[in-house]
Amino acid sequence: MSATPASPDRIAVLVSGRGSNLQAILDAIDAGALPARIVGVFSDKPAAPALSRVAPTLRWSASPKEYASRDAFDAALGDAIEATRPDWIVCAGYLRILCDAFVERFRGRLLNIHPSLLPKYPGLRTHARAIADGETEHGASVHFVIPELDAGTVVAQARVPVRTGDDADALAARVLAVEHPLLVAVLRLAVSGRLAEQGTTTTVDGHPLFTPLLLDSAGALRAPGTDRPV
Ligand code: GAR
Repeated sequence: MSATPASPDRIAVLVSGRGSNLQAILDAIDAGALPARIVGVFSDKPAAPALSRVAPTLRWSASPKEYASRDAFDAALGDAIEATRPDWIVCAGYLRILCDAFVERFRGRLLNIHPSLLPKYPGLRTHARAIADGETEHGASVHFVIPELDAGTVVAQARVPVRTGDDADALAARVLAVEHPLLVAVLRLAVSGRLAEQGTTTTVDGHPLFTPLLLDSAGALRAPGTDRPV
């Protein structure tokens, strides 16, 4: 009799700041809503408040200034991550651009949450730019990371309205509220072995994903135009 393969449930999380997305993952695990374990939390900011959300044994941080180059920092970060044998590496508010070698090292298991409806507004200041452009809708995306910034396949998105009188902070708060269930929902797919990136194709249950899944008001992911939860 062959052993049942283990679920790909080991998650490493990269953070740079507050860590509310990390907290959403931790809360979902505690509530039994995400069958996963956090194997490490990694930061380029040793003082990041996010780090204090997990036990000291799970923390790794270093300042890039202590390294000779961007590549050297990312190599050390990558070695520390690899030592925890993660199935998935999640950038949850990691605000430093990853070098190509790092991305290639973890390609296919590296996810990022970004506060815009990609491909709109890659990069920084997404909320202010959406308001300045007169957008009526904004949101968040979880995507696979590729060397080009914020350009990998988008797995799922959550949309929010832009309201009259919104400033960047008000809009950011509305987006953040949907980031948390969005990230947890995508991780649920990931740790159950249903999500994969094979070459340039992203699959869910083995079927190519042509358009991002959408988060509904119940916190479930659906294919656009269908009422069937994925
Ligand atoms: C989140 O809004 C996340 O989408 C964003 O940083 C914030 C982190 O919040 N990430 C990026 O902008 C990546 N380009 P958190 O630390 O409370 O999770």
